[in-house]
Amino acid sequence: MYEIPIYTKQQLALRNGQDRDEIWVAYKGKIYDVSKSRLWRKGMHYEHWAGQDLTHELPDAPHSDTVFDKFEQVGILE
Ligand code: HEM
Repeated sequence: MYEIPIYTKQQLALRNGQDRDEIWVAYKGKIYDVSKSRLWRKGMHYEHWAGQDLTHELPDAPHSDTVFDKFEQVGILE
C-alpha cells in the first residue's frame, strides 16, 4: 500500500530553493512541492522562504489556503 513519506524539519529545510532543485513548503502538517510555481522561484515568495512550515504566516497573505489545491502533497512534516 502506498504511504506518504514523513520528513523532518531538517529534510524540509534542504528544499528551500537554494540547496536543491526541489522547493517544498509545509502547511498544517502537509508538505507541498511548489517547484513548478513561478511565484516560488528560488524558494522565495514575497517575504517568505520555502523549506519551512509556513502555517502561522498564512494569515499575513492576501489569499487563503486554496492556493495549495493545485500542488501535490509530497509528504507529512514530522
Ligand atoms: C505577505 C505575504 C504574501 C503575499 C503578499 C502573497 C501573495 C501571493 C499572490 C499575489 C499569489 C498569486 C495570486 C493568488 O493565488 O492569490 C500567491 C500565491 C500563492 N501563495 Fe502567497 N502570498 C503571501 C504569503 C504566502 C504564504 C505565507 C504562503 C504559504 C503558507 C503562500 C503560499 C502561496 C501559494 C502556494 C501560492 C500559489 C502559487 C501558484 O499558484 O503558483 N503565500 N501569493
